[in-house]
Amino acid sequence: MHLKFIIPLIFGLIANQGECARIFGAFLFPSYSHQVIFQPIWKELSLRGHQVTVITPNPLNDPKLTNLTEIDISFTYKLPVFAQMMSGLQSANSVFKKELGTYFLFTEVYEAVMNYAPVRDIVNNQNDHYDLVLLQYNHIAHGMLPFAHKYKAPLIGLSSMGVYLQIHDALGNPTHPVVNPDYMMGLSGEMSFFERMQSLLFNFWYRAVYYWYFLPNSDKLARKYFGNDIPYLGDIERNTSLVMMSCNPLINSVVPNVPNLIEISQMHIREKKPLPKDIKQYLDSSPQGVVYFSLGSNVKSANLTQDLRKTIISALSELPYNVLWKWEADSLPDQPKNVMVRKWLPQPDVLGHKNIKVFFMQGGLQSLEESINNEVPVVGMPFFSDQPANMRKVVELGIGLMLDHRTVTKRNIVDSLKEVAENKKYKENVLKSKAILMDHPVRNASQAAWWIEYVLRHNGARHMRSSAADMTFFQYFMLDVVAFLLTCVITVAYVLIKLLRVFKKLVVKDKSKKAGQKKAKKH
Ligand SMILES: *[C@@H]1O[C@H](CO)[C@@H](O)[C@H](O)[C@H]1NC(C)=O
Ligand SMILES: *[C@@H]1O[C@H](CO)[C@@H](O)[C@H](O)[C@H]1NC(C)=O
Ligand SMILES: *[C@@H]1O[C@H](CO)[C@@H](O)[C@H](O)[C@H]1NC(C)=O
Ligand SMILES: *[C@@H]1O[C@H](CO)[C@@H](O)[C@H](O)[C@H]1NC(C)=O
Repeated sequence: MHLKFIIPLIFGLIANQGECARIFGAFLFPSYSHQVIFQPIWKELSLRGHQVTVITPNPLNDPKLTNLTEIDISFTYKLPVFAQMMSGLQSANSVFKKELGTYFLFTEVYEAVMNYAPVRDIVNNQNDHYDLVLLQYNHIAHGMLPFAHKYKAPLIGLSSMGVYLQIHDALGNPTHPVVNPDYMMGLSGEMSFFERMQSLLFNFWYRAVYYWYFLPNSDKLARKYFGNDIPYLGDIERNTSLVMMSCNPLINSVVPNVPNLIEISQMHIREKKPLPKDIKQYLDSSPQGVVYFSLGSNVKSANLTQDLRKTIISALSELPYNVLWKWEADSLPDQPKNVMVRKWLPQPDVLGHKNIKVFFMQGGLQSLEESINNEVPVVGMPFFSDQPANMRKVVELGIGLMLDHRTVTKRNIVDSLKEVAENKKYKENVLKSKAILMDHPVRNASQAAWWIEYVLRHNGARHMRSSAADMTFFQYFMLDVVAFLLTCVITVAYVLIKLLRVFKKLVVKDKSKKAGQKKAKKH
C-alpha cells in the first residue's frame, strides 16, 4: 500500500483508540436489585465501542456483546456469611448496629472476591492498562480503590441508591444532618427534635467510625492483595472524579448537589415482556384482584422469623384477594388456598397486569419505582438500608401504608392491604407520582454513558471538583476565621474595657480632686 494511504490509516486508528477507551469496572455487591442498575450501563459502554471488563455477580452473558468481558463472581451469593448477616440485619434495630454489620459482611465478600483466581490474575497483571475505573460505591468498594492507582486512571463511583457520607465528603458535597439526613437513618421530610438530634449524632458517629476504623482497616486489607506500594485508600477516594447515584427527587430528599454528583434513575425500567403462561393464567383468572408479595432480592421471605412468617400467612389467608408470593424455598409450610408461590417472578411484568391491586413490599427503591411506574399502590414493611426512609416518603406521598415488622399483627396486615386495595385515594396519588417520576430529560444508560465519556474526554474532569473537597475541616467550617475574628472582638472588647476603667478612674479622681478643692474653698 502507498504511504499516502497508510499514514491517514494509522492516524485514523490512533484517533479511534482515543475515542474507544479501555474501561475497568468492579460491581461487587451480590444483590440482583443493585446489579440491574449497572448492567445497562456496562452494556451501553461496550456497544459504544469501548473495551469493557467488569467483575460482577450478575453477568449478562450475552454473546453479541463482543467488546465486553465479564468476570463472574456469582459464587458470592452463596457465601454463608451472607445469609447469616442478612438475617442479623433484619433483627438489628439500631442504625449503628446495621452499619457495623454491613461493613463486616462486605469485608467477607471482598476477601472472597480477591482470593478468586481470575480476579487475582487481574491484580497481578503488570502489563494491562485501563483508561477509566468504575466502582460500585459501598463498603466493599474501598478495597477496590487501588485499581485507580494501578492504572493511573480517573475514578468514577456508582451507587444503586444514595451514597455514604464519606463520598459526599470526597466530592465536597454538603451533608446537612437535618436538611439531608443520611439515607441509612430512615428519616425524611419533617423531623421531630429527637430525630434531628439523632441525625446530628449519627453524622458525627459515622465519620468517626469511618475515618478512624473502617478506612484504616480496609487499607490494611487492601495492602494484603495489592502490596504495600499503594497510596492510602482515603487519598484515592478523595480523588474521585464523578459519582452517579440512583436517586430521584420524588422519593429521595431534595438536596443541592455539586456538579460531579449526578442523579441517574430508572436504569432498570425496561420494555414489558409477556408473562410466563402459568402466571398469566393465574392473574387473568383472579378478577377479585391480586396482592403481589415480594421482599425483594436482599430480604428473603424464606428467611423471615417463624413468628412473622406465620402472622403473614394467616393474614394472607383471610384476604378476599388472591396472592402471588415470591417465596425462595421449595415449599411454603401451611400454604393457604388463595396463595401461589414462585421462587422467582418477572416483577415489572407482574406489576403491569391489570388485576394486581397492591404490592406488599419491603420499600426498596427499585421495586418502588417499578410499582409507581405500573400505577400500583403499596404496603411496605421496611427492614434496613434505605427502605425505612423510602417508606416514610411513600406515606407522605399517600401512595401506600407502612408496617413495622417488629410489632405487626395479623389484623394490621389485613386492614392495611384492604385499605390500600379499596380506597381510591392511593391509586389517584400513585398516578400523580407517576406523572412526576416519568417526566424528565433522558434518564437511561445513554445518560450514564455520556457522563462516563465526558470524564474520559476531559481527563478526569477536574474542573467540576468543588474546592470544598480539598479543604480541611477547619477551613470548611471557617473555624480558623471564626476563631480569629472572635479573638479580635475579645481583644478589642478587653482593651476598651481596660481603657474605660482607666478613664473612669481618672474622672473619679478628677471629680474627687475638684470636690476636694471645692471643700477647701468653702473653708
Ligand atoms: C466493538 O468495538 C468496536 C470498536 O472498538 C466497534 O466497531 C464494534 O461495533 C463493537 N462491537 C459491538 C458488538 O459493540
Ligand atoms: C489523583 O489524581 C491525579 C490526577 O488524575 C493523579 O495524578 C494522582 O496520582 C492521584 N492521586 C492519588 C492518591 O490517587
Ligand atoms: C434462608 O433461606 C434459604 C432458602 O432460600 C435457606 O437455604 C437458608 O438456610 C436460610 N438462611 C437462614 C439464615 O435462615
Ligand atoms: C435513551 O433515551 C434516548 C431518548 O429517548 C434514546 O435516544 C436512547 O436510545 C436511549 N438509550 C438507551 C440506551 O436506551
